[in-house]
Parts: sequence; structure tokens; C-alpha cells
Amino acid sequence: MGPSGAHTTVVHLGMRTDDSYELLRQFASPLVAITTAWRGRTNGMISDSAVRASISPAVPRISVFVHKWHFSHDLIWDSGRFGLHMLHEGQLGLVYELGFVSGRDRDKLAGIPHRIGASGVPLLEDCYAAFECRVINTMDNGFATMFLGDVLATHPGRGDAAMTPPYLRANMPAAWREEFLRNYRVAQEHIDQHREIQDLHWKAAGR
Ligand SMILES: Cc1cc2nc3c(=O)[nH]c(=O)nc-3n(C[C@H](O)[C@H](O)[C@H](O)COP(=O)(O)O)c2cc1C
Repeated sequence: MGPSGAHTTVVHLGMRTDDSYELLRQFASPLVAITTAWRGRTNGMISDSAVRASISPAVPRISVFVHKWHFSHDLIWDSGRFGLHMLHEGQLGLVYELGFVSGRDRDKLAGIPHRIGASGVPLLEDCYAAFECRVINTMDNGFATMFLGDVLATHPGRGDAAMTPPYLRANMPAAWREEFLRNYRVAQEHIDQHREIQDLHWKAAGR
């Protein structure tokens, strides 16, 4: 950013960034796998937008932003539940399996060992830690919904370190990089076209 605050946008294999966005990017969370289940369909996706939403162990809460065009969005919205898994550094392959293609057309969890938790969400057997969450509120972000969840149950997993976005970027196999940046660009285009806040009200009734 120059002294006037002007930004120079850089295009990297389609994905756009500038000095301001590179600073905002530092607010990304550790990598998490979000799982869902509704009416016989299960699914999983990857996110780096999970944030602790309470500092009291008596009121454990967490939030996550999910883009509206993702299959996971529909399943979380309808079920009012999500599983949130912190990943360990040995799980780069899972990031590719859940975070690069949509589950609309294929069952992404079919080959990934998991069980269904008491809340009904899929719990991945391998993770750093898993949380079963119940949606208690949402906030509209135009192109995404922020789901705020009560943590119903916590399941410690394994691994020495939670996977962070800098770790992912430094260790992502070169063969994935182009696809990763192409997906990023497509998501940026969706966002640019759907920035208006909508008056959507999620209702917990009946869930
Ligand atoms: C490192 C990484 C971080 C991501 N973070 C988010 C995120 O915070 N929110 C989101 O909606 N999608 C995020 N995604 C994209 C989804 O995980 C991805 O598009 C996924 O295929 C959606 O799957 P679904 O359509 O089966 O739900 C991320 C992907 C990666 C690889």
C-alpha cells in the first residue's frame, strides 16, 4: 500500500491479491474440516475461517463462514448442526479431498473413516480435535453465512501441531497449486457478484 493508501492488485494464476488483502489474510484460522449430515446425505469441506466465539468454558462457542454456493452450506442450514475438526500437519491429503471439489456430485466422505456422533454429525476418526456443534444463530455476509455454534461435545484427537494456512502454503504439493489458485479465483468472482447483504433469517425452530 502506498502513502496514499492506494493498492496495487496482483494476479497470481488468476487469484487476485493486494497489500491490504495480504494483511487481512493473516486473520485466517487453523485449517478445519467441517462435516454435515442431512436426510441421508453426508459431506465435508475445508475452512480457515473458524473463530472461537466465547472465552468461558461454561459457554463453549465457535463460528465459521461458509460460502452459500457450497453443498455444505445447504446441509448446515437445513440440519442446524456441524462437526468442526482441527486438522494436524499430517493431513494435507484430507485438505485436497474435502477442499478442492464439491460434494454435490460425489460422496466425499465415502473413503474417509468416520462415525456419526451423538448430535448426528460425521466425526472424522483422524484429526487433531473434533467438536460437535449446534447452530444457534447466523449472520448474512451476502456471498456467505456465518454460522455461530454451541459446542455440544469435544473429542480430542492426535498429532503434535494443528495445521495452519502458512503450513499449508509452504507444504502444498506443486501439482495442486494451480487448481488451488483457480478455485480461489472462482470464489473471488462469486464474492464480487454477491456482495449485497440479504435479509435471511435462520430459525432454530424444530431442530
Ligand atoms: C485452505 C482452504 C480454505 C478454505 N476456506 C473456506 C472458508 O473459510 N469458507 C468456505 O466457504 N470455503 C472455504 N474453502 C473452500 C471449500 O472447502 C471448498 O470449496 C469445498 O470444495 C466446498 O465443498 P462442498 O461444496 O462439498 O461443501 C477453503 C478451501 C481450502 C482448500
